[in-house]
Amino acid sequence: MIDFKVKSGNPEKQRSSCLVLAVYEDQGMSPSTRVIDKSSKGVISRLIKRGDITGECGETILLPETGSIPADRILLIGCGNEDDFDSSKLQKITAKIIQKLQANKINEAILFLPEIEIEGADLATRIEQIIIQSAHSSYHFDTTKSKKQKKNKAIQKLTLFIPDRSNLNTARQAVLTGKAIASGVTMARELGNLPGNICTPSYLAGQAKELATDFNLKLKVLSETAMEKLSMGALLSVSRGSRQEAKLIILEHKGGGSKDAPVVLVGKGLTFDAGGISLKPSSAMDEMKYDMCGGASVLGTMRAIAEMKLPLNVIAIVPSSENLPDGDANKPGDVVTSMSGQTIEILNTDAEGRLILCDALTYAERFKPSTVIDVATLTGACVVALGAHASGVFSNQDHLAQEIIDAGIKAQDRVWYLPLWEEYDQQLKSNFADMANIGGHKAGAITAACFLSRYTKKYDWAHLDIAGTAWLSGSKKGSTGRPVKLLCEFLRNRARAA
Ligand code: BES
Ligand code: MN
Ligand code: ZN
Repeated sequence: MIDFKVKSGNPEKQRSSCLVLAVYEDQGMSPSTRVIDKSSKGVISRLIKRGDITGECGETILLPETGSIPADRILLIGCGNEDDFDSSKLQKITAKIIQKLQANKINEAILFLPEIEIEGADLATRIEQIIIQSAHSSYHFDTTKSKKQKKNKAIQKLTLFIPDRSNLNTARQAVLTGKAIASGVTMARELGNLPGNICTPSYLAGQAKELATDFNLKLKVLSETAMEKLSMGALLSVSRGSRQEAKLIILEHKGGGSKDAPVVLVGKGLTFDAGGISLKPSSAMDEMKYDMCGGASVLGTMRAIAEMKLPLNVIAIVPSSENLPDGDANKPGDVVTSMSGQTIEILNTDAEGRLILCDALTYAERFKPSTVIDVATLTGACVVALGAHASGVFSNQDHLAQEIIDAGIKAQDRVWYLPLWEEYDQQLKSNFADMANIGGHKAGAITAACFLSRYTKKYDWAHLDIAGTAWLSGSKKGSTGRPVKLLCEFLRNRARAA
C-alpha cells in the first residue's frame, strides 16, 4: 500500500514532486492554494483568469514547473462550488488525483485536501476518506498475471497537509484508521478477484489462518465431518456436488469485555457457483467466482477492526463451499434437514446461498450474539431491484436496519431497506417440506431474505444482499470490496456506544 503521512508547516516551503491544490468555480482558491499562488507570483490566479481551469469538480491541470517554490510541480484540482463540497466530491477528486499522478508517473505528492471543510465530516473523517479512496483508486490486480505492474507507475508516498499543528495527533490517528479500513477493503477485493481454482474453501480457511496469526485472533475451522456431527444437512447438501471440502470458518476478535455479547458477521463464501443441477447459462458464468464476496468482506472487516484494535467483540462465520453439478449433487425435489431441524425442499439447486447460510445462522446462536449481520451475493433479483449503487438490507428490527442505513451513508457504502412481510414469506410454502428454497419468480431478493429470517428468530438480525454491489461487470470488471466500509463504520459506532 501507499505510504501515507501527515504534515504541517508552511505550504510554500514544502519540498515534493508535486503539490496538489484545490481551486473552486467562481475563481475561488483554498487557503493553501492562495499561499502558493502568492509565493509563485500569481501563476495560479493567471491560469484561472485565462480560463485554463474553471474549477469544475474533477477538472485538473498539471504545472510541470513552479519557478519560485521548492516543489517540482503543481497539480490543480477543480472542486466545484465551494459551498457544495461534500464527501462524494472528495471521493471523486481523490480518484481523479490518483489517476493523474499515475498517468504522469509522479510517485510522491503532498495533498492539500484535508483543509477543505465538509459539513458533517470532521478532519479525521475527511482524512480517512482520502486514504480509503486513494488506496481504492491505486489498487491494481496482478496476482495471476505473469508480468507485474511497473514500479514507476505505482504511487509510493502521499503526504496529507494539515493546516493546524494542534491537529497532528488526531490526523495521525485518522491515518492509522484509514489504512486499516483500506487494507480490509483491499483484502476483500483481492479474494474476490482470485479465480475459483485458486480461491477454494480451503484457501479461504488459509487466509483466515493468516489473519489469526498476524492479528492474534481466535480461529476454528470446521471440516465436513465436524459439520456432520452438528447436523448441518443444508450446508453439506450443497457441498456434496463438489470435490473441494466445505469449510466453516469461525474467527473471533475479542476487543471488548469478556462478558460482552458479540456482534456476529456471517458471510456467504461460495467460491464458485455454477448453479448445480439447475445449471446457470454459460455467458458470464466466470463472474460466479465472486460468489464468496460476502465471506471475503467479512474477513476483510475482521482484518480492519483487528488492525485498529477496535474495543468490541466481533465474530466472523464464513460457510464456504462450491456449487457444481455432479452425480452426487442436490437434485430438484430433494429434501434436506437443516441444523435447526427445519426441512427444506430444494426446488432449485441454484438457490444454494441460503442453504449454506441457514446452518451458519443457526450455528451463530451459540455465541449469544447482540446482533447478527449476514452478508451475501444472494440474488440476481437484488441486482435488478437496486443495481450497483445500493446493497439491499433486510432486518427483523427496524432500529437495526436504520443503524445500518446511517452507517452506509456515513461510509459512502449505501444500502436500501426492503420488507420481510408475511405475504412474501408465504411464497416459500412447500407440499413436501417445512419450506421450499425458492419463492417463485416474484420478489426474489425478498423471498430469499424471508427464507433466512426463519433461521434468525433468536436474535436481532440483518441481512445484506450485495449481489449488485460486490463487483462490477464490463470494462471495470472486478471486486469492489463492498460492504467492508459499511461494516467497519457500523462496528465503530457500536464500539463507541459500548
Ligand atoms: N449467487 C447467485 C446470485 C447472483 C446472481 C449473484 C447474479 C450475482 C449475480 C445465487 O446463488 C443464485 O443463483 N440465486 C438465484 C436464486 C434463484 C434460483 C431463486 C438467482 O438469483 O437467480
Ligand atoms: Mn446460485
Ligand atoms: Zn450463489
